[in-house]
Amino acid sequence: MTFTPKFPTFLHGGDYNPDQWLDRPDILDRDVEMMHKAHVNTVSIGIFSWARLEPEDGVYDFSWLDEVIDRLWKGGIHVILATPSGARPAWMAQKYPEVLRVNDHYQRYHFGGRHNHCITSPVYRRKVYEMDKRLAERYANHPAVILWHLSNEMSGHCYCDLCQEAFRGWLKDKYGTLDKLNDAWWTSFWAHRYTDWSQVEAPGPMAETSTNGMYIDWRRFATHQCKTFMMAERDAVQSVNPELKVTANLMERFWDYDYFDLAEGMDVVSWDSYPMWHSGDDMARAAEFAMNHDMMRSFKDQPFLLMESTPSQVNWKPVNKLKRPGMHLLSSMQALAHGSQSVLYFQWRKGRGAAEQFHGAVVDHDGRDDTRVFKDVTQVGKALESLQPIYDREKSPAQACIIYDWSNWWAIDYAQTGQSQNMKYFDSVNMHYRSLWELGVNVDFRDERECTDLSQYKLVICPMLFMLKESFADKLRVFVENGGTLLMTYFSGVVDESGLAWLGGAPHNLIDVLGVRATELDALFPEDKQAMLLADGRSFPIHELCEIPELHGAKSLGLYEEDFYAAMPCLTRNTFGKGQAYYLAAKVEQAGLDAIYADIADELDLPRAMQETLPEGVIATERGGAVFLQNYSGKAQQVAFENKYTDMLTGRQVEGEYIMPANGVMVLVR
Ligand code: GLA
Ligand code: ZN
Repeated sequence: MTFTPKFPTFLHGGDYNPDQWLDRPDILDRDVEMMHKAHVNTVSIGIFSWARLEPEDGVYDFSWLDEVIDRLWKGGIHVILATPSGARPAWMAQKYPEVLRVNDHYQRYHFGGRHNHCITSPVYRRKVYEMDKRLAERYANHPAVILWHLSNEMSGHCYCDLCQEAFRGWLKDKYGTLDKLNDAWWTSFWAHRYTDWSQVEAPGPMAETSTNGMYIDWRRFATHQCKTFMMAERDAVQSVNPELKVTANLMERFWDYDYFDLAEGMDVVSWDSYPMWHSGDDMARAAEFAMNHDMMRSFKDQPFLLMESTPSQVNWKPVNKLKRPGMHLLSSMQALAHGSQSVLYFQWRKGRGAAEQFHGAVVDHDGRDDTRVFKDVTQVGKALESLQPIYDREKSPAQACIIYDWSNWWAIDYAQTGQSQNMKYFDSVNMHYRSLWELGVNVDFRDERECTDLSQYKLVICPMLFMLKESFADKLRVFVENGGTLLMTYFSGVVDESGLAWLGGAPHNLIDVLGVRATELDALFPEDKQAMLLADGRSFPIHELCEIPELHGAKSLGLYEEDFYAAMPCLTRNTFGKGQAYYLAAKVEQAGLDAIYADIADELDLPRAMQETLPEGVIATERGGAVFLQNYSGKAQQVAFENKYTDMLTGRQVEGEYIMPANGVMVLVR
């Protein structure tokens, strides 16, 4: 799929800040030359250029940007053009203090930093609109410009009076009456019933902290506010050229906003990926980032762009380790394997000063084009060129799907029970994902929105689906009735979409489907012992959470081994309609999940990227019929190929026994 019809090619390049180098035309000229050498074809510009674009209120200067874009275009480099709303000039903060964000202690920030505007402020929205409209009028039809990059890494909350009033307005729209709001939030608790809308304020450490439902609504509101801000930017730029698509760069495991919802407001999802490689367990890291990539692909059910990654190291982690040889190509190819149409970096050239002066870049302060990093980047550029034949090929449709829902995430984290404050939703889901990823099975992510359609899947997994909407419970029931396989875990179907506990037993409305009723939830200390014993005698350790289920027709497949619930079921299966439903009552370790999913994948005949048995730490991921074979084990591994393949990266034939180096990657076609 191409998002950039003017340039239907894997994009290679990244954030470029020529506005930091305007007094060095020699460097700007040299940049274009070096981009060619690095096989860079696209740069993102203007992300933080507001102070150069509008040096005084209402005084615009596009001359330098004209020159930059023309210079790039003459050199054959394409441009992703940003709107500069991620950071404001000082004059704006001084003249219109309302654009500055207010924190949850009701202090208004002073000028500084970035990503810290009030997203409600009508002044800010107007200034952004005026800027965006002008940028679009000038550049939306420029042949070099292939995509809009809206703002940057939108994030956070503002507690100013404007935002408080907007929150109340959003709540009025949602609930209509204060009685409904009071009921949904269970405000009779601690005498919190509201008698007038004006009493409602955003939750926070200086205000309400005990009303879970309110917190969840506050997050939904913040998502809505960000989405409308972003869509106003989209309208501004697309009012000039509706064909030119917009993206906004998202982040990993980002809890603040509901990304499924936010993604509806953009044409293309892109994201910024910064795994901490070589910090112990690269397999775990790779499993986590594979899931991030698949989530990004799933938000709009289409390929995505890797908007930022580092060519070498970052500078904001506690330990900023270099990528070891091979890792740059390997991690870049991982993104492609999961559906990326680009490998883009932060940043092209290291700046001389300020906070990011030591952040990894393609070009270092020494300005050389023969460094290890420059060569690694060039290698990725060439790899993307050799993979162009699969540019239009998407991953084969997944037959397995994991439900990941943002409201559920918030609800879990606000609920005070179990491993309070540490329920690890993302990490727990990642363990389920990892089992399938290691098997080479394609996986989609979906949430509980009405638009979710489960009919393409054979397997739907609901890890910790604590907040279960009535309509989604119905969807799961129909899915199983029609022949689907459902796997649901402990801590599911407990509360409704307001965060109010369902009455009448959990998992709500699915007890007959699962053949199981959840009773008590036990939380374990790290030193506590528990395990799951399968019928074939294999035993797998359990940590953190154990639920005690009561059988209502399901067959027990695994039993608890310890404590007062020893010999009670921990893994069950029930047939329902034409399908079946598994219930996993405890947090079994990875090996236990691997065992469960190996059986399910066999039973359902889920397609795998490769038939070959791969050594530990070697992963196969399918995209458009090509197999991305990735070695995350940290050492060389011997692979035994049963078929003859061609490695698209090298053009070489491979068959029989083959040694993959540490951090090695191949893209194999038959
Ligand atoms: C984020 C930002 C970039 C830059 C990088 C550094 O992703 O979007 O502007 O700060 O981090 O890693
Ligand atoms: Zn505000």
